[in-house]
Amino acid sequence: MGKKFYKSLPDMSKARNRVDSPRLRREEIIVPEKVKAFARGRKYWISTFGCQANVRDQEIMAGYLEEAGFLPAESEDEANIAIINTCAVRENAEEKVYGEIGKFKANHLKDRSFLLAVCGCMMQEEKVAEDIMSRYPYVNLIFGTHNVSSLLNLIDEHLGRKRDIVEVLSFPGDIVENLPSTRLDEFKAYVNITYGCDKFCTYCIVPYTRGRERSRHKEDILEECRKLVEDGYQEITLLGQNVNSYGKDFGDGTSFASILEEVAKLGIKRLRFMTSHPWDFSEEMLDVIAKYPNIMKCIHLPVQSGNNEVLRKMGRRYSREEYLDLVRKIRTKMPECAITTDIIVGFPNETEEQFLDTLSLCEEVKYDAAFTFIYSPRKGTPAAKMVDDVTDADKHERFMRLLKVVENGVVEHAEKMIGKTYAVLVDGPSKKDPGVLSGYAENGKLIHFKGPKALRGHIVDVRVEKSHTFSMIGSLVEDPWISLAKDLKTSLLEEECAKRYFACKKAFEEDEGAQALRDQIEAAQREMMRASKEGDDLGYAKAKKDYASLKEQYENHPCFLNLVHSGEEVRQMLEEVMGELA
Ligand code: SAH
Ligand code: SF4
Ligand code: F3S
Repeated sequence: MGKKFYKSLPDMSKARNRVDSPRLRREEIIVPEKVKAFARGRKYWISTFGCQANVRDQEIMAGYLEEAGFLPAESEDEANIAIINTCAVRENAEEKVYGEIGKFKANHLKDRSFLLAVCGCMMQEEKVAEDIMSRYPYVNLIFGTHNVSSLLNLIDEHLGRKRDIVEVLSFPGDIVENLPSTRLDEFKAYVNITYGCDKFCTYCIVPYTRGRERSRHKEDILEECRKLVEDGYQEITLLGQNVNSYGKDFGDGTSFASILEEVAKLGIKRLRFMTSHPWDFSEEMLDVIAKYPNIMKCIHLPVQSGNNEVLRKMGRRYSREEYLDLVRKIRTKMPECAITTDIIVGFPNETEEQFLDTLSLCEEVKYDAAFTFIYSPRKGTPAAKMVDDVTDADKHERFMRLLKVVENGVVEHAEKMIGKTYAVLVDGPSKKDPGVLSGYAENGKLIHFKGPKALRGHIVDVRVEKSHTFSMIGSLVEDPWISLAKDLKTSLLEEECAKRYFACKKAFEEDEGAQALRDQIEAAQREMMRASKEGDDLGYAKAKKDYASLKEQYENHPCFLNLVHSGEEVRQMLEEVMGELA
């Protein structure tokens, strides 16, 4: 197309604004006619970089595209429309995006109506959209994190105006509900509870790319989770850049602990949450995590640095001592709780001594897992303006030393798992070997084991036999088919009609009138047998008549009729299940 229409471009100073209040919008999904016609017979592809917030945005965009009639493509080259969902958190995340855009040139050359969109956090940075538009003439649409729900209208506008369109909004951000969604996993789901971030750690771009911290209303979250439980989801992860802040913006005492507890009570088998900022991790949260067995004992607690001066410069609002105190509290209350973290190496002017504090903190905490990053200056953040005297070589060398110390902790935890049994939510067969399944234990550790792929989506017991440090090898504790039969039995018993059937059965068994009839029927049967043996024809005829009349009474007994009716409901439900399976 070539012609560009810049509707709006990002402005970091507007993105920093935290003055206006967020608006709550309930979207009505309207598919423009032109988009509906374009979607017919066409397939979509979405490539996502970055964190779970982007994964959830991918699901929402897939929801919009499928509402319009696009079908999912099996691979990139089959796609007639592709969206690249970008991350801006570090430079290397950004570099990957350019390679990804390049991949779709082939689609453009093959199919002149091919539509390529680029969106996500990186688009919220100044100058990026213009740069992409000038370097890649086959990019047709650029939008940001605040207007994902305009996707179909932007496609419509692009098709109607025959222009490549850029619309990136910079404002603190709204809360949009009633979004469509095509979830990527059938058993594990992400649920946003807060958007954005107000912490403004000095190195971090997220508060600018995702806007102000804003909480979704409790009822909207609970409704989404309730539906997931009904649909058979086994695991929910509550998402937010800092979930601990949930509800603070309502100013009515709503807290993360309260929403966590309410979701746990909905009966989801596994509940996780991320991420918790160490600064506002409350005692109340610890109590709730400890109280509910379905809240996984696994806390991601990013420390970033073990040195107080660096923490201060990062704007993290806690000290090394406060962090270690929190770790102690967690472990005292829940000794089995896994603790994982994020660490940044080479923050501007970090000295060797300051780095050694990070190493000693890792030695002390012994993390179950840690994500380690070399500091990457992000334009527009305060840290990016600091003059840095640490060389790249020093940063890399520190990074390698940190990896070693982190690994020692991970090895220690992994070895303690050997010989123990863990409940694992089965993700499915491995790509390399279809006979090998994998899944995560409560503590977040990946375990591989042999089993049938029918176990996918089930929670099974696996005994750990060997450590590969970052993943484990185990074996199923119970015969897999017995586990499946048990699960099936449990889910059938949870069906309303099955519950009704068993209640009617109990009522029928305990009804005194029905019991008397059963006794009388048995007595009549005995009399028929005696009369037949002794050739007492008259006696036999009488007993047979009594038997028929008693049986009629029995079959018209209200408790019996209830039982037959509820049994019929169960039969119909099973037939429906069989129909769906066939
Ligand atoms: N809200 C989450 C993290 C979001 S970003 C939290 O506060 O924990 C994930 C991780 O990326 C951060 O924890 C941090 O360790 C890392 N990170 C963020 N900005 C970075 C930067 N400029 N350079 C290197 N790592 C960074
Ligand atoms: Fe970034 Fe800090 Fe917010 Fe996490 S808490 S998203 S690191 S600003
Ligand atoms: Fe990246 Fe945006 Fe997430 S910058 S880490 S995708 S919030």
